Amino acid sequence: MWKFTAVPQHTPQIEMRCWTIGGGPNERGIRRGVQMTMQSAAPRSKRILMVGAPGAGKGTQADAIAKQFGITHIASGDLLRKHIADGTTIGKSVEDIVNKGELVPDAMIMDMLRKPVLAASETGGYVLDGFPRTVDQAEAAYRTAGSLGVGVQIAVHLEVPEEELMRRMLARARGADDTEDVVRHRIKVYEEKTRPLLEYYASRELLIQVNGARPVSEVTWSIVVQLQRAFKRPNTHAATAPAARQATAPDRAVA
Ligand code: AP5
Repeated sequence: MWKFTAVPQHTPQIEMRCWTIGGGPNERGIRRGVQMTMQSAAPRSKRILMVGAPGAGKGTQADAIAKQFGITHIASGDLLRKHIADGTTIGKSVEDIVNKGELVPDAMIMDMLRKPVLAASETGGYVLDGFPRTVDQAEAAYRTAGSLGVGVQIAVHLEVPEEELMRRMLARARGADDTEDVVRHRIKVYEEKTRPLLEYYASRELLIQVNGARPVSEVTWSIVVQLQRAFKRPNTHAATAPAARQATAPDRAVA
């Protein structure tokens, strides 16, 4: 049995495997095969994103997923708060927007995330938390990341009722954007601008639906089981998903 791998300089990579089983070329029982697959720039990387309202548990679950799969957790909100705390130019221009619970302009977010997303894609993959927030951001990411083969493979949606979101956020009181009025506004922004992403991902990638209103470890278990199942499917690692797929009935039954 032998294996040959041809990797051209540009992406997407083409991997060719040839094998021979059963002896020399003239012997009986010979079986040969050639398999050619299109692969992304980061063939084995796992690229996941979390969608959910403020307080749905995106950050909590993204941490657990990152540990489970050995990938990088990238949180747009954490990066913005670090810029604000460090008093950078970005920080100064977004502080007021974040404190009011409004969305930061797309171009600024895209610039901030480009490097960490590319770096994470080369080192196992990423779980993105807080991005994209709008269909415009998702489309921009799809154009750039998709063409580099580092686009998202699976979106995980955490559904949590509003009263539980409010309870969690007011109990946490992280900063100026965790006051009752601002949290209510953030939830409204989510419903208007971010919820439409669910339809967007359902029609383009695999969308995993999870009931997030359960204890943290139960939610994690549900997500991990569904992700493991999804990553076993042949198309999950394709550079471009050939057809839109949504979580199957058994997937939803786990959630
Ligand atoms: P961001 O930091 O992303 O805030 P968010 O989406 O509102 O999310 P949170 O971090 O508040 O909640 P979460 O879902 O991550 O829940 P968590 O795990 O923390 O963004 C902040 C701001 O930055 C935005 O408002 C916007 O201004 C700007 N921004 C960020 N990204 C942007 C983008 N792409 N475009 C434009 N602007 C952007 O948990 C919350 C609490 O609940 C914790 O105390 C936790 O311990 C608890 N908890 C979690 N899970 C459970 C559970 N299962 N049971 C009980 N408690 C739980």
